[in-house]
Amino acid sequence: KQDDDQLIIDAGQKQFGATNCGSCGMVYSADNPEDNFQHTQFHQRFLDSIKFVGWKKERVVAEFWDGKILLVMPDDPKYAVKKADDVRRVADNELGFQQLTLSRPTQSKTYLFINTERMVVGCLVAEPIRQGYRVLEQPDRHKDMMKDDFMERHRAWCCSTVPEQALCGISRIWVFSLARRQGIATRMLDTVRSSFMYGSHLTKEEIAFSDPTPDGKQFATKYCNT
Ligand code: ACO
Ligand code: ZN
Repeated sequence: KQDDDQLIIDAGQKQFGATNCGSCGMVYSADNPEDNFQHTQFHQRFLDSIKFVGWKKERVVAEFWDGKILLVMPDDPKYAVKKADDVRRVADNELGFQQLTLSRPTQSKTYLFINTERMVVGCLVAEPIRQGYRVLEQPDRHKDMMKDDFMERHRAWCCSTVPEQALCGISRIWVFSLARRQGIATRMLDTVRSSFMYGSHLTKEEIAFSDPTPDGKQFATKYCNT
């Protein structure tokens, strides 16, 4: 495993321009010493943060062929809460969130997607809320105008102005860059809907995303309309 990682980095150093590390996913310029240094600093710390050694007690809420989803609650053993915090910090760092505290730490539930290589590749923080702003679908005539990707990603985001009743707020959702577009976020949200409130299954309308990023918006629109 260690040798594989090394091989990818060595190969990267021989080429100019952007390199994508095959282990940590960082995109950097391999021929730039400063960039190389930044990558070395980041690489091991990141892999340590998402490494999952296995716990004595695991609250498994879903299982798949390529991994499982664990639920971590605020009153769980320290090692579990610490891992959830570490991964959330990684996600916050990538999202550029400055504030590292949650708005309602005692009521938040953290869902971690663990893959078969024992890495935490997905993290979702859900909190109970009373109301949220529903994401509105773009009218079709607007879609025609959104030919290029830039327009698509930077279009004005339409949210309803009337707060509507919602029960579950998604304050963070993050998937490891090298594990995206494999349905991990979708499966984490499906799992939230069936496990967030004991004894009831939440509809897509009862879920609200707080302050989504462009990636988050694209995902949320797709998820809510399908
Ligand atoms: N661009 C366009 N469509 C997308 C994107 C994207 N970046 N991401 C997801 N979708 C759509 C696709 O239609 C996709 O289906 P397809 O792959 O069959 O086309 C569908 O949503 C389902 O996607 P998943 O595979 O379930 O999503 P993924 O596991 O890749 O995770 C996420 C999506 C969480 C947004 C990921 O890209 C990520 O972590 N990004 C960086 C962090 C971030 O921005 N998180 C959202 C912050 S907002 C908040 O936390 C409330
Ligand atoms: Zn790396």
